[in-house]
Amino acid sequence: MKMIVRLTSELPPGKMTTVDVLGRTLLVANVDGAFFAMDGICSHGFADLSRGRLDGFMVECPRHFARYDVRDGKLVRRPVDAEGHAFDLRSYPVTVDKDRIIVDI
Ligand code: FES
Repeated sequence: MKMIVRLTSELPPGKMTTVDVLGRTLLVANVDGAFFAMDGICSHGFADLSRGRLDGFMVECPRHFARYDVRDGKLVRRPVDAEGHAFDLRSYPVTVDKDRIIVDI
C-alpha cells in the first residue's frame, strides 16, 4: 500500500524523521536529495533511530551505536559494548511525486 508520509520540503538533505504508518514506525531519510525508508526502531533495544545520527547512508542508533544502511536496512555495525541480538531491518520502496514522499508499505 502506498502512503504519503511527508512533503519533500519537510525533510531537507541530511535529515531523517520518524513516521507512524499502518501500525509501523518508519524512519524516512533524505540523503543528498534521495529519499529512503526503513523500520524506525532499532532491532537491538527499541530505540528511536531518528534520534540517532545520519552519516551518509548510515543511520547510527543513539543508544549503543549500531549502524544500519538506510538503503536496504542492513545491519552494518553491531551494538557497541552491549549484549543482545541485533539484526537487519526492513526497508521500503520510496517514490517522490511532485513534493510528496510516498512509501510503499
Ligand atoms: Fe540500538 Fe542498542 S538500542 S544499538
